[in-house]
Amino acid sequence: MSSDRPSPQLELAVGDITLEQVDAIVNAANETLLGGGGVDGAIHRAAGPELLEHCRILGGCPTGQAKVTPGFRLVARWVIHTVGPIWHGGDRGESELLASCYRESLARADEVDARSVAFPAISTGVYGYPIAPATQIAVETVRSTPTTVELVRFVCFNDEALSAYEAALAD
Ligand code: AR6
Repeated sequence: MSSDRPSPQLELAVGDITLEQVDAIVNAANETLLGGGGVDGAIHRAAGPELLEHCRILGGCPTGQAKVTPGFRLVARWVIHTVGPIWHGGDRGESELLASCYRESLARADEVDARSVAFPAISTGVYGYPIAPATQIAVETVRSTPTTVELVRFVCFNDEALSAYEAALAD
């Protein structure tokens, strides 16, 4: 895709996304937006109960889309909630839906003027998306999406994710 905007700088980070010192962190949520386990649970715990209260008024979110809320008690000013696809083997539009999560999250970041954004490896936990193709889609989509975001940090929660992102960034 052509754009007169430069691509964001891409960085890898290791650890807990709730500690990221960025303008916005992305949550790998489910369609209810009412919390869950994994990174979703960690973000709700760290942001405090105000986050769930705010999410209740959003009316959920379809897979592949994203909605933004304040970060409440987080360092990050914003949380961008996106809903990744559940992995069913790869022939149910999973790759396009996953790419859409990254594009839509960047669009929400642009709307609130967030210049730095941290992403978890969306769909690669409970939702079962294999880590190698998921990280390739993350990197390719962020590289090819026009955005005013200047810095994207991919947060790796374990060594497997870190290796996968390193390979994707090297492509
Ligand atoms: N910081 C960064 N990454 C994390 C953290 C953390 N604190 N905790 C887990 N991860 P998952 P999904 C990584 O399961 O697959 C929830 O219940 C984890 O290692 O959190 O999109 C939602 O409510 C993995 O690489 O999200 C949904 O129901 C990645 O984050 C469902 O899970 C995503 O794993 C969404 O499943």
